[in-house]
Amino acid sequence: MTNVQETLVLVKPDGVARNLSGEILRRIEAKGYSLVDIKLVQAERSLLAEHYAEHAGKPFFEPLVEFMESGSILALRVAGDRVIEGFRALAGTTDPTTAAPGTIRGDLGRDWGLKVQQNLVHGSDSPESAARELALWFA
Ligand code: PPS
Repeated sequence: MTNVQETLVLVKPDGVARNLSGEILRRIEAKGYSLVDIKLVQAERSLLAEHYAEHAGKPFFEPLVEFMESGSILALRVAGDRVIEGFRALAGTTDPTTAAPGTIRGDLGRDWGLKVQQNLVHGSDSPESAARELALWFA
């Protein structure tokens, strides 16, 4: 039995600026997931505020939105069996310093000593988030 899902993946401004988009796409495709749609976006604050609405009021909210506004983002609609959970496993945990080797963040993420975590990628964390976020980014 298959459980084909779609998820939103964002290559964040640090990933695009460091020319890691190709390497990140390679890892997604090598895992067997398929690209359904792709676009380079300079995100408006209103889109980012809606995207991160559940984190409004947390100390990292403002720096996170500012960081995401600071450069181009590569938005991907990705499909595959259990891809929501599977991409988050590929990405690794939030903090690149402690993310496991073998993951995108663990292998490629850098701790820049900044307050903002520049952790290369975002992936939806549940089917509900995926549906909401895909509708926002691929309206
Ligand atoms: S939480 O509070 O447990 O839900 O946080 P978490 O799931 O780890 O992270 C939620 C998103 O916020 C980003 N994040 C941060 N950004 C900047 N600075 C700090 N300190 C920080 N901590 C968490 C984290 O990368 C998540 O964003 P996405 O885009 O999903 O990666």
